[in-house]
Amino acid sequence: MAVRKDTIFERFLSPVVQLFIDREGLEQFYRSIDWETASDRFRNPTLVYPTYYSSQNFHGIDKGYLNPRAAVSYDPITQYVILPNETLVRQAAIDTVQGQPQRILDLGCGTGSTTLLLKQKFPQAEVIGLDFSPYMLVMADYKAQQAGLEIQFVHANAEETGFPDASFDLVTASLLLHETPPAVSRKILQEAARSLKPGGEMLILDGNQNTLRQTDWLTQIFEEPYIQAYAAGNVDAWMGAAGFGAVHTQELWWIHQVTKGVKPLPGQDPDVTPSQAQAVGTDRFSFPDVGFPAPAFE
Ligand SMILES: C[S@@+](CC[C@H](N)C(=O)[O-])C[C@H]1O[C@@H](n2cnc3c(N)ncnc32)[C@H](O)[C@@H]1O
Repeated sequence: MAVRKDTIFERFLSPVVQLFIDREGLEQFYRSIDWETASDRFRNPTLVYPTYYSSQNFHGIDKGYLNPRAAVSYDPITQYVILPNETLVRQAAIDTVQGQPQRILDLGCGTGSTTLLLKQKFPQAEVIGLDFSPYMLVMADYKAQQAGLEIQFVHANAEETGFPDASFDLVTASLLLHETPPAVSRKILQEAARSLKPGGEMLILDGNQNTLRQTDWLTQIFEEPYIQAYAAGNVDAWMGAAGFGAVHTQELWWIHQVTKGVKPLPGQDPDVTPSQAQAVGTDRFSFPDVGFPAPAFE
């Protein structure tokens, strides 16, 4: 595994994290799976990977998510990165969802950590996890089976999912947007708006752009090719440009942010979509809401 040696993670954190990671167990797990055969169950052979995705070594892993080792090492590392507690943070975001969505699409679902929590929170819902990496989908499906949860996993591009217009009540994206160039993030949000029913909700959990802008070193922890562009952008503005109304971002534990928006009903002005801009409801855990203005530019 080719790993960049100049990130903060590699220089300072990795030696500590290694102490807690069962490397031998992970290697055994990796070798126990025939990744090509397993991923063939999901693989869409017509997919073409754009350069922004196929050319980068995300997190210092050679070929990034197109390397099955990324799928094996993702969860053991992520649990130490999503502070103060990965499940608490993911659950806090999910707990902001209003109502009872019947169809849920989790974009860039990765190993399915948020997808599984969504299915647990909304057991009656049809939940679909979508990712570009067939190896991440193998891992996500394995986790869903272990948990006894019926979730469909789809190999597709979040920019162009192939689902019909207005077919979901809730679309989510956790830790996805900081991994894509802003122009791609904006396309993903447009695609989410297209695939949501009018009145449907969009939920985004990601790095806190305000904090990242002010704390340069946070953007250098991992090899994250687009995180500085993400930090310089504004998810609220991207959501507004994609046509969402009631857009609202709240800080969560200083380093995360939760953004929500609603697809307006026909004829409704997105700027005045009533009442859906709920406080994120995590005040017990979070720093005060600093919010962002929502100009219609990046
Ligand atoms: C940091 S991981 C986040 C995974 C998961 N959502 C989570 O919260 O842990 C980013 C994921 O987004 C996927 N991804 C990046 N660009 C994508 C795209 N255009 N379409 C679908 N998936 C994409 C990657 O393959 C990767 O699994």
